[in-house]
Amino acid sequence: MDVQTRENQARNHCCSSMALRKVIALCITIACLHDHVALCTEIYEDSNQPVELRVQDLLSRMTLDEKIGQMTQIERYVANFDVMKNFSIGSVLSSGGSTPNSSTTEAWQNMVDDLQAGALATRLGIPMLYGIDAIHGHNNVYGATIFPHNIGLGCTRDPDLVRRVGAATALELRATGIPYTFAPCIAVCRDPRWGRCYESFSEDTSVVRMMTDVIYGLQGNGTPGIPFVSDRSKVAACAKHYVGDGGTQRGINSNDTILSYEDLFRIHVAPYVDAIAKGVSTIMLSYSSWNGVKMHMNHRLISTLLKQELGFKGFVISDMEGIDFITDIPDANYTASVLESINAGLDMIMVPFDYEKFISTLRTLVNTGYISMQRIDDAVTRILRVKFSMGLFEHPLADRSFSPHLGSQDNRMVAREAVRKSLVLLKNGKTESRPFLPLSKNATRVLVAGTHADDVGLQCGGWTISWQGSAGSITKGTTVLDAVKAAVFTTTQVIHEASPTAEVAAKTKADFAIVVVGEQPYAEGAGDNTNLTIPDEGISTIKNVCSEVKCLVILISGRPLVVEPYLPLMEAFVAAWLPGTEGNGVTDVIFGDYDFVGSLSRTWFKSADQLPMNFGDPIYDPLFRFAFGLGMGKLPR
Ligand SMILES: *[C@@H]1O[C@H](CO)[C@@H](O)[C@H](O)[C@H]1NC(C)=O
Ligand SMILES: *[C@@H]1O[C@H](CO)[C@@H](O)[C@H](O)[C@H]1NC(C)=O
Ligand SMILES: *[C@@H]1O[C@H](CO)[C@@H](O)[C@H](O)[C@H]1NC(C)=O
Ligand SMILES: *[C@@H]1O[C@H](CO)[C@@H](O)[C@H](O)[C@H]1NC(C)=O
Ligand SMILES: *[C@@H]1O[C@H](CO)[C@@H](O)[C@H](O)[C@H]1NC(C)=O
Ligand SMILES: *[C@@H]1O[C@H](CO)[C@@H](O)[C@H](O)[C@H]1NC(C)=O
Repeated sequence: MDVQTRENQARNHCCSSMALRKVIALCITIACLHDHVALCTEIYEDSNQPVELRVQDLLSRMTLDEKIGQMTQIERYVANFDVMKNFSIGSVLSSGGSTPNSSTTEAWQNMVDDLQAGALATRLGIPMLYGIDAIHGHNNVYGATIFPHNIGLGCTRDPDLVRRVGAATALELRATGIPYTFAPCIAVCRDPRWGRCYESFSEDTSVVRMMTDVIYGLQGNGTPGIPFVSDRSKVAACAKHYVGDGGTQRGINSNDTILSYEDLFRIHVAPYVDAIAKGVSTIMLSYSSWNGVKMHMNHRLISTLLKQELGFKGFVISDMEGIDFITDIPDANYTASVLESINAGLDMIMVPFDYEKFISTLRTLVNTGYISMQRIDDAVTRILRVKFSMGLFEHPLADRSFSPHLGSQDNRMVAREAVRKSLVLLKNGKTESRPFLPLSKNATRVLVAGTHADDVGLQCGGWTISWQGSAGSITKGTTVLDAVKAAVFTTTQVIHEASPTAEVAAKTKADFAIVVVGEQPYAEGAGDNTNLTIPDEGISTIKNVCSEVKCLVILISGRPLVVEPYLPLMEAFVAAWLPGTEGNGVTDVIFGDYDFVGSLSRTWFKSADQLPMNFGDPIYDPLFRFAFGLGMGKLPR
């Protein structure tokens, strides 16, 4: 049976009992039956009915097992048709790097549709929701457009651009049949030692709030405060990680955020007020704690603040295995973990592997009265509300007409614009009267040097193709070297040396050098770093090249790094963050086709022992202050 047939069956198999009897009572002829076929649907199946009515109708038909199934999200790795059907699974995810064997859009679409067919084959035919981390473009998919990570987007201060980035990402998700992403991250990173700092738009709450406009790009526009997805070119979004993920002590990943309630609200909760107003469909919890209490069990912040006081109507989802680590001893008492998290107000659990254990534990807790049916119904109501409001019941399967959007030229143009607007010019010329940039496209010889000059993987950073990211030609894209070659005159000789000695650099007799160095890729806790220095190879390249040839240094990094000791060697210095696949956005500005417009989304410290140090702190002695950024030949903005 193909998926289309299954879908039709699922759509019609409720055409039974009452509704069918009503039609038969009305009609004698077959023609009449045809005319009244619309009556042959249950309320929940009827897209003309209001969402809330459809939710209540469907909820009233569901068994406890079907409800628990909706609350269960599993990894694609353990999912198949039978599992989806037998356990009425409500949602499936691809975690970082979890992909079908083939990287074509068709393979993705088939995988999602096959699992959907299992969900549609259940008694009530409730479609499952497939979710994935598309945090800088559809980053698990080979050939997708990779946009700058959020730290760079924050430097643009351009909500309209970020909205277009969201819209392009939604199209690329739809190209693979996926209607849901675990983005945006609206963390306010208060300490760049944190390995996820690049996922944060800014250290400043007001910049993060402004950038929540990305939700309009992902989901479209709807009624303020109500979850929605406006049409099939859009996807459901997920604001994360609620709350205080960027405020942990010393920037330790998933650690403790120690703050008063007032400061927590002012700094970290505020962006959620905007996300909810902009209709975000779901919110993911943070692994971290607030004043020693794990967020995954914080009833006050989830049920009272988020749901009651802020009026969030979508569903709250755990992070991956997020409930497993509620107790200090992992997995010590899974029953307690399920009890505490569900009663705190979690609606969907990213289990994601041992779903049988989760399901049987939750079932027992409900049957023994530890978790009320009212709590289960609240969770399922929210999940169904999101599914109905995004049109998932009407369009559960991949729309293959979206395939051409993956890595499309239009989307790459948006990414290129995002790159050029996210670059921050921090130094231009050894003296103010002699700016070094823009560079001439008509030089005789140009030296392009550094570990990061010709490497798409390093340009993209973590969360690209794999969870941690990696160096090399991991996906389609334009490196800075490619872009330089394309930008300069055909008569210009471009010399590439990854790590030249001073002697080699001198011998090139280049008119100028472009040195591109930075961090290796990382994600989450693996990126926690207390020294924040440029890896050694980069430092020696800066020293070797800049001592011999007038140089522009471009830093590729997920956060500010220690640069003060090397600045005097450089003619010019640009922070490029993690720009993604479109390296030509870099050459657009350094050769002067566009001016620099980026301004720092973060404070640039002198040394790591100053940290944490944020804009507004009483002691504030940065190398470059928050919001600093030069235009070419102009005064600081
Ligand atoms: C699903 O249920 C069918 C019928 O009871 C059974 O044969 C099959 O083994 C089950 N599969 C899984 C993965 O639970
Ligand atoms: C994908 O590859 C894995 C490992 O090689 C294999 O076990 C699995 O059956 C493959 N899946 C498909 C759908 O081809
Ligand atoms: C925070 O990190 C410290 C040091 O690694 C660790 O001992 C502590 O358990 C962590 N706290 C939380 C809440 O994770
Ligand atoms: C596990 O947690 C449950 C619920 O809090 C509790 O009733 C039970 O005694 C705990 N079991 C152990 C072995 O600690
Ligand atoms: C490029 O440089 C060459 C050599 O210096 C010069 O003759 C030529 O006029 C320049 N072309 C442009 C368009 O500036
Ligand atoms: C800085 O910290 C990182 C991450 O812990 C480590 O890999 C690196 O070797 C350290 N560098 C220096 C110079 O200490």
